[in-house]
Amino acid sequence: MKTLLHYLFLLCFNILRPAVHSQCINDQQQSLLHLKKSLQFDQPSSLISWNSSTDCCSWVGVTCTSDGHVVGLDLSSKTISGPIPGSFANFSNLRVLDLSRNNISSPIPGSFASFSNLRVLGLSWNNISGTVPRFFANFSKLTSLRLSGCRLNGTFPNEIFQVPTLETVYLGSNYELGGSLPEFPKNNGSLRSLILRQTNFSGSLPESIGNLKMLSTIDLSNCSFHGSIPSLLFSLPLLSQLNLSHNQFSGELAFSNVSSNLVTLDLSFNNLEGQISVSIFNFQGLQSLNLSSNNFTAFLFNGPQQLKNLTNIDLSYNSLLSLYNGTDSSYSSFPQIDSLNLAANKLGTIPYFLRDQFALSSVDLSENHIRGKIPDWIWSSNQLSTLNLSCNYLVALDAPLPNSTVETVDLHSNQLQGKIPTFPPYAKYLDYSRNNFSSIPLNIGDFLTKTLFFSLSKNNLHGLIPASICNASNLQILNLSNNSLSGMIPQCLTAMRHLSVLNLARNNLTGSISNVEVTEDSSLQILDIGGNQLDGKVPKSLAKCTMLEVLNIGNNNITDSFPCLLKNISTLRVLILRSNNFYGGIECLNTNGTWPELQIIDLAHNNFSGEIQGILWRTWRKMMATENGSPSTILSGNAVSSYAIESCKQPFNRRCYGRVDDRASYAYDGSSLEYGVSVIVTSKGFEMELVKIISIFTLIDFSSNNFSGPIPKEMGEFKSLRVLNLSRNAFTGEIPSSFSNMRVLESLDLSQNKLSGCIPPQLAELTFLSFLDLSYNQLVGKIPTSNQFSTFPPSSFTGNKGLQRFPLTVDNKAGFPPPSTVNGRSPDSGHHHEVNWDLISAEIGFIVGFGVAVGSLVLCKRWSKWYYRAMYNILLKIFPQLEERIGIHRKHVHINQR
Ligand SMILES: *[C@@H]1O[C@H](CO)[C@@H](O)[C@H](O)[C@H]1NC(C)=O
Ligand SMILES: *[C@@H]1O[C@H](CO)[C@@H](O)[C@H](O)[C@H]1NC(C)=O
Ligand SMILES: *[C@@H]1O[C@H](CO)[C@@H](O)[C@H](O)[C@H]1NC(C)=O
Ligand SMILES: *[C@@H]1O[C@H](CO)[C@@H](O)[C@H](O)[C@H]1NC(C)=O
Ligand SMILES: *[C@@H]1O[C@H](CO)[C@@H](O)[C@H](O)[C@H]1NC(C)=O
Ligand SMILES: *[C@@H]1O[C@H](CO)[C@@H](O)[C@H](O)[C@H]1NC(C)=O
Ligand SMILES: *[C@@H]1O[C@H](CO)[C@@H](O)[C@H](O)[C@H]1NC(C)=O
Ligand SMILES: *[C@@H]1O[C@H](CO)[C@@H](O)[C@H](O)[C@H]1NC(C)=O
Ligand SMILES: *[C@@H]1O[C@H](CO)[C@@H](O)[C@H](O)[C@H]1NC(C)=O
Repeated sequence: MKTLLHYLFLLCFNILRPAVHSQCINDQQQSLLHLKKSLQFDQPSSLISWNSSTDCCSWVGVTCTSDGHVVGLDLSSKTISGPIPGSFANFSNLRVLDLSRNNISSPIPGSFASFSNLRVLGLSWNNISGTVPRFFANFSKLTSLRLSGCRLNGTFPNEIFQVPTLETVYLGSNYELGGSLPEFPKNNGSLRSLILRQTNFSGSLPESIGNLKMLSTIDLSNCSFHGSIPSLLFSLPLLSQLNLSHNQFSGELAFSNVSSNLVTLDLSFNNLEGQISVSIFNFQGLQSLNLSSNNFTAFLFNGPQQLKNLTNIDLSYNSLLSLYNGTDSSYSSFPQIDSLNLAANKLGTIPYFLRDQFALSSVDLSENHIRGKIPDWIWSSNQLSTLNLSCNYLVALDAPLPNSTVETVDLHSNQLQGKIPTFPPYAKYLDYSRNNFSSIPLNIGDFLTKTLFFSLSKNNLHGLIPASICNASNLQILNLSNNSLSGMIPQCLTAMRHLSVLNLARNNLTGSISNVEVTEDSSLQILDIGGNQLDGKVPKSLAKCTMLEVLNIGNNNITDSFPCLLKNISTLRVLILRSNNFYGGIECLNTNGTWPELQIIDLAHNNFSGEIQGILWRTWRKMMATENGSPSTILSGNAVSSYAIESCKQPFNRRCYGRVDDRASYAYDGSSLEYGVSVIVTSKGFEMELVKIISIFTLIDFSSNNFSGPIPKEMGEFKSLRVLNLSRNAFTGEIPSSFSNMRVLESLDLSQNKLSGCIPPQLAELTFLSFLDLSYNQLVGKIPTSNQFSTFPPSSFTGNKGLQRFPLTVDNKAGFPPPSTVNGRSPDSGHHHEVNWDLISAEIGFIVGFGVAVGSLVLCKRWSKWYYRAMYNILLKIFPQLEERIGIHRKHVHINQR
């Protein structure tokens, strides 16, 4: 009866109003306007179409039944912020409610319990917190529950999985939302998509997941599942995407009847082991197979396969000893694939089936145990673009066919010898570093016309740098460091327009650098010519390098006064003049230039002299920035762990630097990758972010000069200074008490000066201080005993006549002359507080150079695949010393030059 009345009422109502299709009912319009009023928007214009002068059923996001009742509200991406208002409760007939991609921050309100007709609920990508309410299980018609990318937590109510109509469940990226999967009853599956990636779901997968016969997409990656993978999972008839990566699944893989619809299979980053069974080839539709980072020992294939669509195979980071060599016919029936990654296995030879691969564009066989000669046929694929054979034991290489299309060749860390082979002029990235090559062909540059990156670092190269290298006009990064190259630096080299990183460090280069010419529009960001036998003066034209960030001319024989001409380079971050014959004062009177970015200045082991005016410091703003970080990692290997953000299960491969995880994030502003780059490098089971280290590391080293006068008290303003070394000068006066403002100071060396007075008790406030040397001065009074001070050994204070330690012991050695010095350095001084320059510049360079090279490479699509690895490798290759830094837990880092 009631229904009939209601029907009649509706009928009348419709007759009274003009019969327009799904015209809005007044009370619904009022409710919608009320809703609009109660919502908060970041952009108020979001719902401008919700205007009382128009039909509310025509408003954006509103769906009505034909009788004008609102049944759908799609308010996704409408810049809604704040909590979910109660006024949604007025729409209890809703079938679709989508609030995805807003900025909503509140728990899911209890009033949602009234939406019992709801089919689709979308709340993804908001700041919604709290738990997932149990009442969703009462929504008997629910087909799609989308809650990804919120901040939900607690346990997911498993009753919801019992809703018989449920097809899609998206819970991904709720890092604190967890639970375990329930048993799924037989014949109860309408579930098609189950996305739980990046949640805290755990436990083992129930065998009964095989009852969900409709499942086509499963993504359980980055959760905490363990146990074996139920073999029934692989036989789900409609399954097309299966991603179980980054869990702790273990045991051997077992497939029985496999789904021929499977397109992508990703089981990477688990603890799976044993053989990869030949039945994997029964996934006839497979396009992408990723079994990387497990512990598989063999990949068996024999007999014909029908994997016509397979294009990508990633078996990297396993323990594969060999790929089954099978028979000739099984080789030729191996699918023609596009990319093959076998990095970091235990292969002893290059898999022979590659010989018959004509569509390969990318092959990675790095970090295996491959010996012998690189076979010619490796170049035979018509598509080959990237070949990585780095970190093996290869000894010989023929030049590839002159028609080879290869663009990226990485052969670093092998035992290749003889003359460098030339490559067809398509190569953009050539890394021959860490081999045993002995000479460079004179015409090398003619083959590098497209090359952006070229490294020959750490070989055994002798002879001159061929001037033809200047014909490589696109070169952005050139690294010839750590060889025995001799002769002069070719004049044209520094004049190359696109070159941003030039590293010639640690060779046997001679001659004067006074005449080095840099062009007006120079792109140079890093110039490292340290550790040679160069003489002359700092070239005047360097002042034109307006983008220069790192200049290392240390460990040469340069005789000059302080290079004031560099003062106008406002981008300078690192200046190393160490171990030359620089002389005179370091004041620059005729310039207003400042070094606001300066982080590292090393003038040690020169003949600089005179007093230092406090005003000098005032312009080094970077060092004055307040810094409340944690200890840097530069000084001691121990500190590496302070940057450990996540343990990594892949063992660190010293020969090959470690690995970069593709979780690394980066900021790319369209033209270059800048300081936002966050590179995660694994070392000794830890991952660390290099960027962090680079951006905070600051150092002043003026040791072993003839500076005199008092230490300016303004130095205390360097609130972000980590290392200060003023030892072996002739400083007088007291230690400024303002030093206590250098809150993050980790190493302070004032030894072998003529400092007098007491040790300011405020120094005890420097809680980061882990190295202190005040020895061989004329200090008097008591040594503070609080905090760090009690941990410093007596040698930190020795050679000060008047200094007393509690309990009162007069220093026996006081009054004796300082220990004999070798090359101006005392025999026991070369540790701990001294810093290996190679390492520092490496890390600074990491960022600078990277932006340079990869910024442009990423634009090129082929390269982007390769991106993360390149990102990591490039700078390591510019400054190979970084390997040692992250490779060895050295307690004491020391200078290994000279
Ligand atoms: C509604 O739309 C009409 C015509 O488009 C416009 O004149 C009126 O100002 C709008 N009202 C509001 C409240 O935006
Ligand atoms: C969920 O997060 C809220 C804060 O957003 C917190 O108060 C609550 O304790 C958390 N619940 C659980 C189970 O972690
Ligand atoms: C291979 O891919 C094509 C095109 O995507 C598709 O039509 C075909 O069915 C696939 N082959 C198999 C065996 O799935
Ligand atoms: C991998 O398996 C081998 C034996 O098959 C075993 O010795 C080794 O410890 C395993 N490695 C890991 C990381 O589980
Ligand atoms: C595979 O190669 C190894 C070593 O070359 C050989 O001993 C073995 O017989 C080969 N197996 C087959 C099936 O050809
Ligand atoms: C290069 O030339 C060789 C022989 O001349 C030929 O077999 C091969 O297919 C060619 N490769 C490409 C990529 O054109
Ligand atoms: C460096 O060059 C000098 C002569 O210029 C030569 O005597 C010396 O052996 C070379 N050193 C190395 C390591 O090649
Ligand atoms: C360094 O240069 C000076 C002159 O500038 C010269 O006398 C001296 O021999 C040079 N030292 C070396 C090691 O080349
Ligand atoms: C430095 O600045 C002062 C005042 O701003 C100006 O008079 C002087 O010419 C400047 N000196 C140089 C070398 O630019």
